[in-house]
Amino acid sequence: AMERHYRFEVGYTYWSPDCKENMVIGINGRFPGPEIRAKSGDTVVVELKNSLPTEGVVIHWHGIRQFGTPWADGTASISQCAINPDETFVYRFKVDKPGTYFYHGHYGMQRAAGLYGSLIVDVADGEKEPFQYDGELSLLLSDWWHESIQSQMLGLSSIPFRWVGEPQTILINGRGQNNCSLNSQCAPVMLHVRPKKTYRLRIASATSLSSLNLAIGNHKMTVVEADGNYVKPVTVNDVDIYSGESYSVLLKTNQNASSNYWLSIGIRGRLPQTQPALAILNYIPNLPSKLPFDRPPKTPKWNDYLHSKQFTYKILAKNGIPKPPANSNTQITLLNTQSKIDGYIKWSINNISLVLPSTPYIGSMKYGLKNAFHSEKPPENIPDDYDVMRPPVNPNATIGSNIYKLEFNATIDVILQNANALAENVSEIHPWHLHGHDFWILGYGDGKFTENDLANLNLRNPPLRNTVVIFPYGWTAIRFLANNPGVWAFHCHIEPHLHMGMGIILAEGVEFISKIPNEVLRCGITGQKLISNQLH
Ligand code: C2O
Ligand code: CU
Repeated sequence: AMERHYRFEVGYTYWSPDCKENMVIGINGRFPGPEIRAKSGDTVVVELKNSLPTEGVVIHWHGIRQFGTPWADGTASISQCAINPDETFVYRFKVDKPGTYFYHGHYGMQRAAGLYGSLIVDVADGEKEPFQYDGELSLLLSDWWHESIQSQMLGLSSIPFRWVGEPQTILINGRGQNNCSLNSQCAPVMLHVRPKKTYRLRIASATSLSSLNLAIGNHKMTVVEADGNYVKPVTVNDVDIYSGESYSVLLKTNQNASSNYWLSIGIRGRLPQTQPALAILNYIPNLPSKLPFDRPPKTPKWNDYLHSKQFTYKILAKNGIPKPPANSNTQITLLNTQSKIDGYIKWSINNISLVLPSTPYIGSMKYGLKNAFHSEKPPENIPDDYDVMRPPVNPNATIGSNIYKLEFNATIDVILQNANALAENVSEIHPWHLHGHDFWILGYGDGKFTENDLANLNLRNPPLRNTVVIFPYGWTAIRFLANNPGVWAFHCHIEPHLHMGMGIILAEGVEFISKIPNEVLRCGITGQKLISNQLH
């Protein structure tokens, strides 16, 4: 194992992701950020300099569990203080599992401003992937607005509420077409392949809002990895991917070699007002500019949830993946509702809308600073008579920074329960992402979860993942081990939803966290105590 060193300077830069020049948050003057590549067991070291003139910044390594380094998780107010302008912070963490990951900003809505890049972990020397391929291609997907994130955030916390709307463009590796000319920063992505080979296509979604569907003309794909875990190979015509998820699919270039083919990515789950993103699968030696014989494949209808469910339910663990414990110690139900607080529209979990404190939890918990966050225990169940098919009877919620404290090493079940939003007949998709852990997905269902559903959970081959979707009006059940000392976010990966409070904070084994570096605590109450030397 070795150390992989990177220097990241984060700053605003002019860029034209979709041919319209805009400001993006770039790294080392480029967008998206550089790919991080390491082998399992390596230590990644990122020296991050904040060159945003007036904003703090942090970077989260999405999918990396941070065993033993919870302060390197890159979540502002949770694992660290945001890095101030002109300051440098060094992230150092181990990548212990091969897979397809990515990294992104985790402060305000900076991810939506372009702060992301891919992070790929290969198997350790001498190890083999459980499948074979001749070459590899990587697609980091995102969505793009012409409106600045500052303006988007203001709209979300205004009365009247102003929604961010649909993205102008879907981006593949930071490039998309919206009124395009070709030879530019927004030129379509070309995927060069040789006929009669097998390629591993790594796909990760860093979208702010959009659920996506990817298809390649005339080609099938075999899914083999999801969120850094091997899955039972399953062959499909198209792949649904939600924000925060990643997949590897194997692609056989077994079609007519005299043609190129379109790869197309469209929006799921919301009435699309965005053109599909296109890339060209270029069969060498055809010229990349040779137009494919066939038209780009069509995405399934945006509200064909059956199609989405069929795909999602098919993702199961590969043989040999660790199985979950047969029973759990604790069951927590999280009701996802839209709510109102002082007239503002929010998302709430069990009636609490998450607002992050100014002192990072990791410090306030470790040092027992009771006043740094709301210390009451948050609700772990939902009212028996709550009707998930109707708008909330009482839409009022409260804001909170409460923590779900988990017993160290306990087995935890979480039932994510979707419901009707504020408006009649509206219930949305939410991809939930857990920091610091993978979880087993034990099952999905429609309507309200009941005790009867317990008997039908999948304990035989549930997939391990770090992100899972809840479908409209449905529930999803997950199980995980609270075995990673730290304070961890668990939230909807839709950036505007998180900004509106859609998340919770979990903590376990905080007493076992070894010495937290002072650099992550220099703000809020821990910052004051550091100055007066009172942090013990
Ligand atoms: Cu990829 Cu807390 O996020
Ligand atoms: Cu959401």
